[in-house]
Amino acid sequence: MSNRKGLILAGGTGSRLWPITQGISKQLMPIYDKPMIYYPISVLMLAGIRDIGLITTPEDRHQFQTLLGDGSQWGLAITYLVQERPEGLAQAYIVGEDFLDGSASAMVLGDNIFFGHGLPEMLQAADLRTAGGTVFGYRVSDPQRYGVVAMDASGQVTQIVEKPKHPPSNYAVTGLYFLDGTAPARARQITPSDRGELEITSLLETYLREGALTVERMGRGFAWLDTGTHGSLLDAGNFVRTLQSRQGMQTGCPEEIAFQQDWIDRERLLSHADRYDKTDYGAYLRSLA
Ligand code: DAU
Repeated sequence: MSNRKGLILAGGTGSRLWPITQGISKQLMPIYDKPMIYYPISVLMLAGIRDIGLITTPEDRHQFQTLLGDGSQWGLAITYLVQERPEGLAQAYIVGEDFLDGSASAMVLGDNIFFGHGLPEMLQAADLRTAGGTVFGYRVSDPQRYGVVAMDASGQVTQIVEKPKHPPSNYAVTGLYFLDGTAPARARQITPSDRGELEITSLLETYLREGALTVERMGRGFAWLDTGTHGSLLDAGNFVRTLQSRQGMQTGCPEEIAFQQDWIDRERLLSHADRYDKTDYGAYLRSLA
């Protein structure tokens, strides 16, 4: 188990999915057979993290609380935190400062979906790096839409830049950040960008300047899926469906991970299976037990 605390940033407004998300948090919409938020929660669970601060807008908080409760059903402790206005990803560390209470953290964006062989091992390796920060680079065809990281021949980070017009590499920085306990203090030091946000890349730059930023490359065997447009949301759902029906295994299933990690017992798993009785999800949980 990890000593890190988890943060999930599931706030934000002005989604490109408007108007279908009006009044409904985007991160609660389904990706095929389960809510989007299950996938980032599963990532933190795979990293061995049980103590999770979930950051939402003031309006959305109760929707998440209704769905996820205190997390104990999966052996987790979920604390609800509110970001009043979407003033940047780095602000999550200021909102989460008291919750983190000096701990190192892993933050994942509530709309990022990761899949890949060796993901748990990659997460556990990042978890062991107690000082500095780790980000995950993923090769994309349209890097100008993301934070971009450039590396030298030895894999050392040389530059990190937000949505560059002329990207220095094809490696996007995914929405998953393992930072040490100094992240909140650093977030307080940075200034808003031209678009008025506390950029995560500005925060990561403070680590880079000290030679304390590591990038792990997620190779072509990984999927890092975007859910920011109607098309990519549907694509992500189709991807999960294809994979699950071919393999007969779930992806992003918190009950399964909790059971594997020994955070819930067989009885508990079966009670979840009962709850989803007569669905494929319920049958799957029963098969695990
Ligand atoms: O997805 C990875 C990318 O996420 C990184 O490559 C970029 O470096 C990073 O800045 C971010 O870029 P985006 O432009 O995709 O961020 P966006 O504003 O879309 O926010 C990402 C999610 O975080 C989205 O679901 C809304 C939520 N959010 C965003 C902001 C700015 C918040 O909850 N609060 C916020 O203040």
